[in-house]
Amino acid sequence: TTNQSWGGRFSEPVDAFVARFTASVDFDKRLYKHDIQGSIAHATMLAKVGVLSDSERDSIIDGLRAIQGEIEAGQFDWRVDLEDVHMNIEARLTERVGITGKKLHTGRSRNDQVATDIRLWLREEIDIIVAELERLQRGLLQQAEQHAEVIMPGFTHLQTAQPVTFGHHLLAWFEMLCRDRERLLDCRKRVNRMPLGSAALAGTTYPIDRQLTCELLGFDAVSGNSLDGVSDRDFAIEFCAAAALAMMHLSRFSEELVLWTSAQFNFIELPDRFCTGSSIMPQKKNPDVPELVRGKSGRVYGHLMGLLTLMKSQPLAYNKDNQEDKEPLFDAADTLRDSLRAFADMIPAIRPRVDVMREAARRGFSTATDLADYLVRKGLPFRDCHEIVGHAVKYGVDSGKDLAEMSLDELRRFSDQIGQDVFEVLTLEGSVNARDHIGGTAPAQVRAAVQRGRELLGDS
Ligand code: ARG
Repeated sequence: TTNQSWGGRFSEPVDAFVARFTASVDFDKRLYKHDIQGSIAHATMLAKVGVLSDSERDSIIDGLRAIQGEIEAGQFDWRVDLEDVHMNIEARLTERVGITGKKLHTGRSRNDQVATDIRLWLREEIDIIVAELERLQRGLLQQAEQHAEVIMPGFTHLQTAQPVTFGHHLLAWFEMLCRDRERLLDCRKRVNRMPLGSAALAGTTYPIDRQLTCELLGFDAVSGNSLDGVSDRDFAIEFCAAAALAMMHLSRFSEELVLWTSAQFNFIELPDRFCTGSSIMPQKKNPDVPELVRGKSGRVYGHLMGLLTLMKSQPLAYNKDNQEDKEPLFDAADTLRDSLRAFADMIPAIRPRVDVMREAARRGFSTATDLADYLVRKGLPFRDCHEIVGHAVKYGVDSGKDLAEMSLDELRRFSDQIGQDVFEVLTLEGSVNARDHIGGTAPAQVRAAVQRGRELLGDS
């Protein structure tokens, strides 16, 4: 026998390197609060069904609360030889309250304990992440409302395509975040099921009341099969998938912010506090925050792939492999949370350079489609109109004139259907105002979409 809690059947101590190699306490200690929360619920249930006496329950709960205090005061001595957060806390409990502490583990295993802890932890993280995501969404709604009329070029292939309103562009990001929020909240439903009671894999012989523990811990339901309960990590993979999609969206926003803050675009002003300088080039102001978020998307994709691979081919039920679930999951959650936080702080502070955006939209023949649509309204087939406007644009490129800068006579060279009323449709305002349907870029539609967004977030 060795001094390990499972040392009974061993005849020599574990190799010193193996002890370090198999330990997880360095990273799973961050589950301490949820581990204690789960243990308190478990002890409460054990007393209710008569497995523990009320006084045993009370000394366990008091001891666990005191340990939480020690951990939070930085006075807890985490021991690698005790492997993980669970055995560190249990050993300390026994130190504090004596043999009663050794009764806490009745009717459970670290296998259902750790699965419960991670779910409690992830549920809380999702709530924090969703709150940051909504803060970012509110920032976008406010900016979109304020800049509902600001005109910028819309792009396809990163080439000027048609004018859009800046508010409309920002609301495209808002929509992506709506889907991310839905996905996270949907994932939360499957996170919020309780494996505790599965014990090691087969359940337990004690008359446990899982429903009671479930209610005490705020889970929606108990897991339906003990083998699955201890070995299911779908919820963690699902979270990483939702996180990877959200990071993909943030990396798209980031890319646009990086482009827009460049001297070549110069569309927006990013306050200095979100940027840093160069140690060699005195003129530099670099958009570090969006660049870093763009870069960090990579590690979250990696964690998704890592967790899928971790679970691939694992036979039932618990395997030690599963200890490897934590670092990727923790890092995915931390990365998403910090990235959202950075964006939620930054987005309300960006300022569009209205004149630059407008000038960029004016150049590049962004109202060419409007001219084609105008000719359609005069009765010509769209394909012919496309061709006619193509000739006009070619003439514009050669003569250095935008469509709106050509005289009526010049324009009529391409079609005699063109009349004085064409100039209304060639203006930027005419172009955006005309796209006045749900989901369109017209300022009125931007304001309506802002209103819908506020309702969705429960703000109006
Ligand atoms: N540290 C372990 C983990 O993270 C806890 C469960 C260990 N169970 C076991 N039978 N070794 O998965």
